[in-house]
Amino acid sequence: SPSTHISQLPAEILLRLFHCLSPAELLRCSQVCRAWSELAQTGSLWRHLFPVHWARGDYYSGPPGELDQEPDEEWVSSRQKEGRAYQEWDEDADVDESDESLGSRGCLAITTAQREKRLLNGLIQNLLPAVGPSVRSVVLAYSSTVSSKMVRQILGFCPNISHLDLTQTAHLDLSGCEQITDGSLRRLSGGDFRRSERRRDKLLLNSSSSSSSSSSSSSNPAPLDERSKKKRPNFLFKQKVWLLDSSELADIEDAAEWSRRGGASLPGLGTLSGAAELRTKCSSPSPSLGGPLGPGGGQRTETRRSLKFLSLSGCYQVTDLGLRAVSRRGALPSLEHLNLSGCPLITEVGLQELVSVCPALNDEHFYYCDNIDGPHGDTASGCQNLQCGFRVCCRSGE
Ligand code: FES
Repeated sequence: SPSTHISQLPAEILLRLFHCLSPAELLRCSQVCRAWSELAQTGSLWRHLFPVHWARGDYYSGPPGELDQEPDEEWVSSRQKEGRAYQEWDEDADVDESDESLGSRGCLAITTAQREKRLLNGLIQNLLPAVGPSVRSVVLAYSSTVSSKMVRQILGFCPNISHLDLTQTAHLDLSGCEQITDGSLRRLSGGDFRRSERRRDKLLLNSSSSSSSSSSSSSNPAPLDERSKKKRPNFLFKQKVWLLDSSELADIEDAAEWSRRGGASLPGLGTLSGAAELRTKCSSPSPSLGGPLGPGGGQRTETRRSLKFLSLSGCYQVTDLGLRAVSRRGALPSLEHLNLSGCPLITEVGLQELVSVCPALNDEHFYYCDNIDGPHGDTASGCQNLQCGFRVCCRSGE
C-alpha cells in the first residue's frame, strides 16, 4: 500500500505521537509548521513543568510524585554554586546581559543559569498564555534565577495549579497579600520552613483554585478531587493577592506603590485562590514540636528551618497570634530579612517573641511599624523609606 506522509496523519494521531515526545522535542516540532505549532500547544502535553530540570537537559515531564525523591547532594550543591555565581554575575552585568558579556566570563554555571532564565521567560511569554489552565504542577526547586515576579506571573497563567515546589528558594514574599490572616500563617508555618539535614528542605506551596480569574479555566476539571478539597480548610482558598500583569506592573514594588495609592481597579489584580499549604517534605518534626509527624512520618532527623526572607508587609490583618504561630513551630535560624511594615495590629510583645527566635536577623533588613515601640528600636529600619517600593506603611494613606 502507498505510504502515508506524516503530514497526512489526523491531528488526534499526531497528538498521540506528541505525547511520546520530550519537552525539547515538542518545542522543535512546534517549529516545523503552523499546524504542528498549534498542536504542540495542546494543554494536555504540558501538565507538569520542570523548567529547572529542563534547562539542564533532564526532560522528565510526568507527575512530580514520580520524581519525588531527594536530589543528590552533588546536584544540590552545584545548583547552589550556580545560583551564587549567577547572582554575582547578574549584579555586575547590570543591564548588559548580552552573549558577549557572558562569553567573556566563560563560566559554565552562568551559562546554565542563563539558559534556565531564558527558558522560564520563554515559558511565561510564549507557552503559558496558551496552556496555562491545563498546568497542574510547576517545580521550581533549586532554581538559580526564578524571581517573585516570575512566580506571580506563572500563578497568574495557571489557575488550576495544584503543586508548586519552591524548595530552596528560601524566600517567602507575601507583601501586599491583604487577606493573609493569622490563620493563614498558622497553616503556612504548620508545614515548617524547615530543612532536614538528611533530606534537604522542600518548600512546597500546594495551591488549588476554587475560583479563577481566567475565564477559560472553567471548562477545565478541578485540580483536586472534591473529597480532598472539602477536607481542606478553605480560609486560604480565597486569598486575594496581586497577580501582576507585567505590562502594567513592573514588579512587587509597583504593587506596593499601587497599594499606597489606594487603587482598587488596576488591571493585574487577580485572585490566587491557592496557597493551601506550605510545607516541607521533611520527615520529622523539630524536637520542640510535639505534634504528629509530618508527611511520611518516620525517623527523627535533625531539622532546621531555612527561610531567609519573610515579608508580610501590608498584611494588615496579621496579629501577634500569627507571628506566634510562626515562631512556636521552631526557630528561624537563617532568617535575615523580616518585613512587617504595614502590619499595625502587631505589638511589641509579638515582635519580641518572633525576634527572639531569629538569631540571624539583620536589623538593616528588619522593618516594622514606627508606631510600635518594639525590639531593636535603635537599629531596626522602621517602616518608612518609601522610595523603596516594596514596603507598605500604615501612614501612607494619609
Ligand atoms: Fe505603621 Fe509605617 S507601618 S507607621
